[in-house]
Amino acid sequence: MHMSSADLREAFLEFFRKQGHQIVPSSSLVPHDDPTLLFTNAGMNQFKDTFLGTEKRNYTRATSSQRCVRAGGKHNDLENVGYTARHHTFFEMLGNFSFGDYFKKEAIHYAWQFLTEVLKLPKERLLVTVYATDDEAFGIWEKQIGVPKDRIIRIGDKSPEKPYESDNFWQMGDTGPCGPCSEIFYDHGEHIWGGPPGSPEEDGDRFIEIWNLVFMQFNRQASGEMQPLPKPSVDTGMGLERIAAILQDVHSNYEIDIFQNLIKAAATILDVKDLENKSLRVIADHIRSCAFLITDGVMPSNEGRGYVLRRIIRRAVRHGNKLGASKPFFFRLGSALALEMGSAFAELHQQMPVIERVLQVEEEQFLRTLDRGLTLLDAELENLNGKIIPGETVFKLYDTYGFPADLTADIARERELEIDQEGFDKAMEAQRQRAKKANQFGVDYNQGVVIEEKSEFEGYDGVSNLATVTAIFNQEGESIQQLTNGQNGQVVLDRSSFYAESGGQTGDTGELIMGDGAFTVTDTQKSGEAIVHMGYVAHGEIHVGEELTAQVDEVRRQSIRLNHTATHLLHAALRKVLGDHVQQKGSQVGPDRLRFDFSHFEPISLSTTRHIEQLVNEEIRRNVAVGTELMDLDTAKQAGAMALFGEKYDDEVRVVSMGEFSTELCGGIHVDRTGDLGTFKITSEGGIAAGVRRIEAVTGAHAWNHLYDIADTLLEVSGYVKGDSTNAKDKVRQLAERQRWLEKEVERLNAKLSAAAGSELAEQAIDISGIKVLVANLEGVDGKSLRSTMDELKSKLGACVIVLSAVNDNKISLITGVAKEVTGKVKAGELVNMVAQQVGGKGGGRPDMAQAGGSDVNALPAALESVTPWLQERLG
Ligand code: ALA
Repeated sequence: MHMSSADLREAFLEFFRKQGHQIVPSSSLVPHDDPTLLFTNAGMNQFKDTFLGTEKRNYTRATSSQRCVRAGGKHNDLENVGYTARHHTFFEMLGNFSFGDYFKKEAIHYAWQFLTEVLKLPKERLLVTVYATDDEAFGIWEKQIGVPKDRIIRIGDKSPEKPYESDNFWQMGDTGPCGPCSEIFYDHGEHIWGGPPGSPEEDGDRFIEIWNLVFMQFNRQASGEMQPLPKPSVDTGMGLERIAAILQDVHSNYEIDIFQNLIKAAATILDVKDLENKSLRVIADHIRSCAFLITDGVMPSNEGRGYVLRRIIRRAVRHGNKLGASKPFFFRLGSALALEMGSAFAELHQQMPVIERVLQVEEEQFLRTLDRGLTLLDAELENLNGKIIPGETVFKLYDTYGFPADLTADIARERELEIDQEGFDKAMEAQRQRAKKANQFGVDYNQGVVIEEKSEFEGYDGVSNLATVTAIFNQEGESIQQLTNGQNGQVVLDRSSFYAESGGQTGDTGELIMGDGAFTVTDTQKSGEAIVHMGYVAHGEIHVGEELTAQVDEVRRQSIRLNHTATHLLHAALRKVLGDHVQQKGSQVGPDRLRFDFSHFEPISLSTTRHIEQLVNEEIRRNVAVGTELMDLDTAKQAGAMALFGEKYDDEVRVVSMGEFSTELCGGIHVDRTGDLGTFKITSEGGIAAGVRRIEAVTGAHAWNHLYDIADTLLEVSGYVKGDSTNAKDKVRQLAERQRWLEKEVERLNAKLSAAAGSELAEQAIDISGIKVLVANLEGVDGKSLRSTMDELKSKLGACVIVLSAVNDNKISLITGVAKEVTGKVKAGELVNMVAQQVGGKGGGRPDMAQAGGSDVNALPAALESVTPWLQERLG
């Protein structure tokens, strides 16, 4: 059966929907809140907590087509991508999931049914593997499905010392959910070399794994211990591109429809005829990962995720360059990609302006150094002995020209060379130290210090409540029983009106008031489900079990509320004015101002900024009620609530709305009516990264203070120009124009003066062996005029040596001139340095003209006097 990739995706999701599975959209490539993972690399990632039993969903069966990136992690094989049939940086994983619902039997039956009945793959082309000891799975395949015994292969551990290290035991990472698995293989036919799984020829290309059924049973701890999951579950993954290749009767993934169309688009843009060219494959692969990474908020940088993105972009650019591109081309593939994949991933369309802009900027930047880097590499290769490019060269290319090491490796590979990775790593050591902060991946998921106590939040409607202390921690994070006067620490309450920092809203401050003591709260943070009050004991003591009053700083809280509501209005206004590509990239809501980062690719003009301010202020004047409502996620999305990409929401969400103008998912605290904001004023707008802008704004009294400041400044300026607010602008402009005219006039007069001074000076020249020698300090002449005076004097004096100095603001300028015919005997540079040395300076220039500076003004007269004897020695 022939099927397009799009139809295949659809058929898969539909098949499982009919079997009672909820279709769940692909999650972001940036895993939410999971420091163990660089990029989303499997369909199950977004369900990790559901498998572990710590997150409940209102369904127990799900299916998805998940966008995945595998690059830059442990098994970074970027250099292979494009050269093999199945290596990609980006791919889609089709999966079905059971959360404690069905287990092995149904998982196997569903998979078989889909492959043989829906896709109609010939049964005799399929074979399967099971984990060595998994008799149950073996039995199901043999007895229930009817796969012949010799086509069910048991795969064990790689070695007895490494239990569970097996192709048939799947684990998400060093820790987390895992279990034995059963894989389904497709036989591409005898004409392709390779053997079945488990055979010595298994690495050949004949038998290709198409579907992995994981029977999730354990939560692996950092210690290696396998903790049973609350309920056995199922996670499966089938690479869309691989199965599409089978259905489209091609062997390489690059021959399927999606890739062929991208390859054709790239060939057209680059004007390449040979569609088999490997560089086209590289580019077609890379546009997918780059566009989706940018969609999910990753920006090229030198650290972490951003660096992986940068490496992929640069590799694509280099391959384009190989095909003759000298201008940015890669970004132009965005629209071809949107055409291929936009129907399944609507966010791609929305973010396209940002994707294109970010790629273009990055391409331009890299193209500027690419040629020079390649020239350097060629020069190094000419002198190369052997087959290994030294680590230092690789590092130099990285450091000076932005060539990631794998890019150099890529070029090396084309020339049948290798790079000295170890030497490069060594040279990178220093850089690594700096990047340490970004290197947070690999944290032990199970050992994160999460406080177990739970606190009830009571601050949506009030700012104080009665509460009991449930835990206290000292500054080292150790659990203790009490804190006394002056001690710093963290206090957890059973219930609290204090808002813990989240969703951009800053944590509350205030006081915990005991019978005869008080704890000053300087910040509030969340840990697990606990609200943690950080601060110090202002007086008295605080104990676990104590009852107290939690009192939030009300004035500060009120200012935060204004700014949070304003943030929503601003977000909505930005989308209305600039377009739907505007996505929140960061938000900080504080008491004195709000800061909002969002995707947009160019500066916002003053008039557009005013328009945005006006829209927000109109909504404020409309004084609409701010509604908050709890509803399930789907209803909220249907209601058009703005959710953040990559953010993981519970099934029940809080929706904050301001009339028709704004509806957003948000857990923060807002005002009752928009009118409470009083006034909204943007205080700054600027870029913080390619494709990301930042707006800062103020509300309420802060907005008024800001406007007063501006008005006061205008008054003050009016005073300086003896005007008022109606004419100050013109007066200042006139003043500036006059100032410019005066500066020109002074320059002109100075030149005239120095010419006149020049004539006078010429007469002071003395004669040494037929050469005119003039040494003079010119009062009140600036450095620039010194030079024109020198030119003047040289033309007047003929065969001459001249030394001129001038002092401005305690700085000495020196200039020496030597007529061409005298430079055989005296060099201007030597002369200027002889003088400069004596006044604490240094200089240089041509043999006939040199300049220097100096600072020791007192030493200047003696230094000038030393010129004549010095010259007499050389000219006499
Ligand atoms: N999570 C499994 C995999 O990635 C299905 O192979």
